[in-house]
Amino acid sequence: MTETVVGAACDAALVAAEAAETTAALKAARIEHTGESSALARLNAAIRDLDKNDKAAAGKLVGQARAQVNQAFAAREAEIAEVEQAAQLAAERVDVTAADSRWRPGARHPLALLQEKMADVFIGMGWEVAEGPELESEWFNFDALNFDEDHPARALQDTFFTEPTDAHLVLRTHTSPVQLRALLSRELPVYVIAPGRTFRTDELDATHTPVFHQIEGIAIDKGLSMAHLRGTLDHFVKSMFGDEAKVRLRPNYFPFTEPSAELDVWHPTFSGGAQWIEWGGCGMVNPNVLRSAGIDPEVYSGFAFGMGVERALMFRNDVKDMRDMVEGDIRFSQQYGMSL
Ligand code: PHE
Repeated sequence: MTETVVGAACDAALVAAEAAETTAALKAARIEHTGESSALARLNAAIRDLDKNDKAAAGKLVGQARAQVNQAFAAREAEIAEVEQAAQLAAERVDVTAADSRWRPGARHPLALLQEKMADVFIGMGWEVAEGPELESEWFNFDALNFDEDHPARALQDTFFTEPTDAHLVLRTHTSPVQLRALLSRELPVYVIAPGRTFRTDELDATHTPVFHQIEGIAIDKGLSMAHLRGTLDHFVKSMFGDEAKVRLRPNYFPFTEPSAELDVWHPTFSGGAQWIEWGGCGMVNPNVLRSAGIDPEVYSGFAFGMGVERALMFRNDVKDMRDMVEGDIRFSQQYGMSL
């Protein structure tokens, strides 16, 4: 065994280690040059057969060569690992300054937000939220609310009747049927608010939509008067539109309230300038309605009101066209975001 042979095997291994560019290539080179069938392994095995006097020198020679080769592979392995990690970090680099325009912030529909905001004003006064069905019995929608048999609101041009007609179901034309449902299902006194969807056979245009929303309120207790109604509406309107807002009640007629009033709201900065805007109806609950619910009108009295949510969104948030509220273009909601 000559120094030249060992030196050649050693040099070949060192060159291969240096030449490897990747962890995988280095692994292959390592097997080739230090593995069981490598030149160095074979030289190592051959020592066994040498003459006794030559064994020590050959062992030292091969041992040094193998140590040098192993060290070279280990050093190269560390170098390659460093380069590969740097490459991976570069590939996974995140540009924290990049514009994030692909992700638009979420938004809720402003009608839902406004409806919740309205209900919150009453929840803050200890009122409860009630619900009723959108497909309502004609009795709750009209009869129990003291509408005459021939009241014009029942006529086909206002109400969506459903088939079969003898089921007497209508798409509720207002949230007032919830008044009676609340009275029938709760203990007195009752203070409830009922926001919800309502339907009338209007064409969709800038100021009408056949599907719209109202918020109904009803309070029944001993000794409630028109002054309580007025105070409640004052607080509601100021909470929704600001402290400068004012309420005006104008005499009106509803079958289910007596006396009844039209509710107008004034605000100095409504779009179009300071003005009175008609917002809803209200009044003292008609004794006939109380009787329908089995309540003695000699003992209990109360008030009710109902306002349009779309209308409020129009004059509060300056929406000019109701169609924007129903067409479902996400950009309409996005301009309001998550709060109104
Ligand atoms: N329900 C009536 C409407 O839709 C409004 C109203 C509610 C009036 C409660 C009086 C009391 O026009």
